[in-house]
Amino acid sequence: MNESLTQNVTEAFGHCADARTKEIVTALVRHLHAFARDVNLTHDEWRRGIEFLTATGKKCDGIRQEFILLSDTLGLSIVLDDINQHHDDGATESSLLGPFYRDGVKEAALGANIAQSDGEPVYFHGVVSVVSGKPVADALIEVWQTAPNGMYEGQDPDQPEGNLRGRFRTDADGAYAFHSIKPTSYPIPTDGPVGQMLLATGRHPMRPAHIHFRIDAPGYEPLTTALYSSDDPYVNSDAVFGVKPSLVIEYVSKDGGYDAARDFVLIPRERA
Ligand code: BEZ
Ligand code: FE
Repeated sequence: MNESLTQNVTEAFGHCADARTKEIVTALVRHLHAFARDVNLTHDEWRRGIEFLTATGKKCDGIRQEFILLSDTLGLSIVLDDINQHHDDGATESSLLGPFYRDGVKEAALGANIAQSDGEPVYFHGVVSVVSGKPVADALIEVWQTAPNGMYEGQDPDQPEGNLRGRFRTDADGAYAFHSIKPTSYPIPTDGPVGQMLLATGRHPMRPAHIHFRIDAPGYEPLTTALYSSDDPYVNSDAVFGVKPSLVIEYVSKDGGYDAARDFVLIPRERA
């Protein structure tokens, strides 16, 4: 094995003026070389790898981003979340934003119903607070989830505008509440190279049922997270690795529907 090959290449970046770019590119070279040596990569295998990456690029357009899907299914997106999340004891953990977040949803009064699709009714409620326990009033809460057919509004022309998307403000006690329906598990898009990769490697494309939350309040780190259903068959095998045990909730049967109680804990900006 000729170790000097890797050294020659990293030294070729030695004049890079930007220190961070140099750090990233030389580490990438070291890890790429180590990977190729680790698996004894053949020319034919790398040619097929390049064909796969080319097809991934060709699948991208203004809406579809196959490279993000690749990053998600390789677990890289959730590793980045982990690296960049401000960890603080007691604070709510983050989870993937995903591609279906949409800005500009009209704010609704607390207690409103965000569902225009039929489904099993759920009452979501809880309190937003700081690690110290102090409630966070007037925090912006944005939520979005799939309909029972496994599609988000925006993927599905048959769903009414704004279906299963909500935007609320916590009250003076930090409380939020809204009505919706029970989320459904759904497959990530499989009609591209990432879908072929999952199929070829014996993996399924399903995300367990979840509802996304984004919580933002002045003076606090914004929180992007999701709540996963404990009774979902895919809760332990999420295709994009977004599930964390602390984000799994139980839907408790109540009044012919479900009650889903969940508090969120933010991190003050100065502590982050
Ligand atoms: C989502 O939860 O919406 C999602 C996340 C990653 C890939 C595809 C979908
Ligand atoms: Fe989602």
